[in-house]
Amino acid sequence: MKPPLIVLNFKTYQEATGKNAVTLARSASDVTRDTGIPVAVAPCVVDLRKVASVADVPVLAQHVDFVGYGSHTGHVPAAYVRDLGLWGTLVNHSERTLPSDAIAKTLEVVAQAKLGSVLCVGTIDRMKELVGLGPRPSFLAIEPPELIGSGRAVSKYRPDLISDAAQVAADTQIPLLCGAGVVDGRDVRKAIELGSEGILVASGVIKAKDPRAVMEEFATSL
Ligand code: G3P
Repeated sequence: MKPPLIVLNFKTYQEATGKNAVTLARSASDVTRDTGIPVAVAPCVVDLRKVASVADVPVLAQHVDFVGYGSHTGHVPAAYVRDLGLWGTLVNHSERTLPSDAIAKTLEVVAQAKLGSVLCVGTIDRMKELVGLGPRPSFLAIEPPELIGSGRAVSKYRPDLISDAAQVAADTQIPLLCGAGVVDGRDVRKAIELGSEGILVASGVIKAKDPRAVMEEFATSL
């Protein structure tokens, strides 16, 4: 999964579960084919297997646990995500945060399973703290929680955050994604100008009247 790219997080939006998840994943595959920009998808855990079987794009879990196969009720084992053929997982999304020691252990099992990872943070301090904690993530992602789902783009309302994060990303040589409130091509272009190599997005696509058209607009802007 090479930048520039889009990661579309389905969260638990009803518009992105079940049959809707399959439709969105097919649109992501079409946009990837038509534009050459990867639109990776992160469906709800319940839909992972189905989406992985229809999507011709990288598929991510929204979270994995640091357990293997075995006696672990209610967990998502990284090895199973790998065995389903998924690309990887989000780690520490601001709606699924983890304490630092759990992040380190998660990055460890993710590396052992040879999965990719997008390590999410809400602040630069947290990014600096976590970046050396365990095995290197494939991507860093900065998302100010207060702008998530707001329609107010991080690139417009917190440009400083993206440029500071881009500095950390350059120092560590881990590509940066950013997200929160991204709704149109201008938001995407601004994010790239500020040093991001892609975007992590949810409601701007999923809640749109025509999600595929928005994916296309974002991909073209990248
Ligand atoms: O993971 C993507 C995310 O948290 C941003 O959400 O709805 O502001 O695009 P949204």
